[in-house]
Amino acid sequence: MENFRLQIPTDIRFGKDRLGELPEVLAPLGKRVLLAYGGGSIKRSGLYDKVVDLLTDNGFTFVELAGIEPNPRIDSVREGVRLIRENDLDVILAVGGGSVVDASKVIAGGVYYDGDAWDLVLDSSKIGKAVPIVDILTLAATGTEMNRNAVISNPETNEKLGTGGWDLIPRASFLDPTLTFTVNKWQTAAGSADMMSHLYEQYFNHTPAVDVQDGIAEGVMKTIIKHAPVAIKEPDNYDARANLLWASTLALNGLVARGRSGGWTCHAIEHELSAYYDITHGIGLAVLTPRWMQFCIDKDDKSHAKLATYARNVWGLTEGSDEELARQAVEKTYRFLHEDLEIPMTLPEVGIETKELVLEMSEKAVLHGGLERDKFVNLSVSDVEAIILACFEEMTF
Ligand code: NZQ
Ligand code: ZN
Repeated sequence: MENFRLQIPTDIRFGKDRLGELPEVLAPLGKRVLLAYGGGSIKRSGLYDKVVDLLTDNGFTFVELAGIEPNPRIDSVREGVRLIRENDLDVILAVGGGSVVDASKVIAGGVYYDGDAWDLVLDSSKIGKAVPIVDILTLAATGTEMNRNAVISNPETNEKLGTGGWDLIPRASFLDPTLTFTVNKWQTAAGSADMMSHLYEQYFNHTPAVDVQDGIAEGVMKTIIKHAPVAIKEPDNYDARANLLWASTLALNGLVARGRSGGWTCHAIEHELSAYYDITHGIGLAVLTPRWMQFCIDKDDKSHAKLATYARNVWGLTEGSDEELARQAVEKTYRFLHEDLEIPMTLPEVGIETKELVLEMSEKAVLHGGLERDKFVNLSVSDVEAIILACFEEMTF
């Protein structure tokens, strides 16, 4: 295990019927609020009215930033920065999924940056001080509620890039599983695939002796495998939603990541699919992941041992060599995503019908993700192309 620092200052308020605590959480941060939200799900669920009542009844004033897109766009960030500056606001209250929280993070940093907010996405070292953020999360997926990361899209340049900063970590996150009851099957599946991918990106790594981190990762993976299919069939099953919500937070708050080095792969490739085709992040990951695992097994024998550990510890598989177990684990992963989460598992089924941009997306993925070095299995442009092209056909086992 490597040396590490882990500081997660987020005040987590987990569970139902806790929204009444919002005024006490917000008050020390200021009375003038930017209320940021997405395309309307919080209005349909009634959450918007509850939040507005709590703010007005407790002496807060607020300005709204509505309509933050899934795959949030830099223009929404620019608008948020403008609203905070013009209205001299103190704190951001982000109500929604990861996209709303991510946009809020870059808004928070952008207020103190003398230049265009896109600079902060291109270069995270330009992020310094930030406006404090409190969020009420409505979708279990990204882990943004307890981490320093944000992912922002620029449709003009076909770029979707991650950035981050220590001051961007939410000061408090309200995690109420009942708020996720209205998340539809598709987004529930996408969120679950995203959490699994976060765990894979950290777990499939060559740093030795990270047993604590791997044990947490395996436990959280098994939790998702158990509860995601239940949440899809019974959207208001509290136990399933609660476990998924906490799993999403733990999957990407640093507990699994710290103490090891080595980078991420599928996310870099998926961010290109989303940048060019605006597809749902978790769905893109679901399609890519089993092909990536298969590619790793075929390209690099050194990948077999860890994939076999995954097979044994997560899927309970026992029979065969490391390579055989690794291949069985790919099938298990694919079937879980396809049959239990009901995700269509080819790119044409999720809106990417032609192969004309595959080379361009592969080049960008290698560039933006640094995929040629320090990965579980390093990937060249032609490797990424092969992985994406494999996503045009069903996998057979
Ligand atoms: O916009 P509204 O109307 O709110 O609807 C949203 C949106 O259409 C809807 N939704 C959210 N909560 C709901 C709900 N619908 C019904 N009931 C509810 N309770 O779901 C749709 C998707 O929302 P979004 O916020 O985009 O989803 P998610 O939380 O999966 O966030 C995805 C974004 O996060 C980025 C992704 O790339 C993507 O842009 N990521 C952020 C990370 C981070 N900050 O650490 C890490 C991830 O790897 C990821 O890249
Ligand atoms: Zn993700």
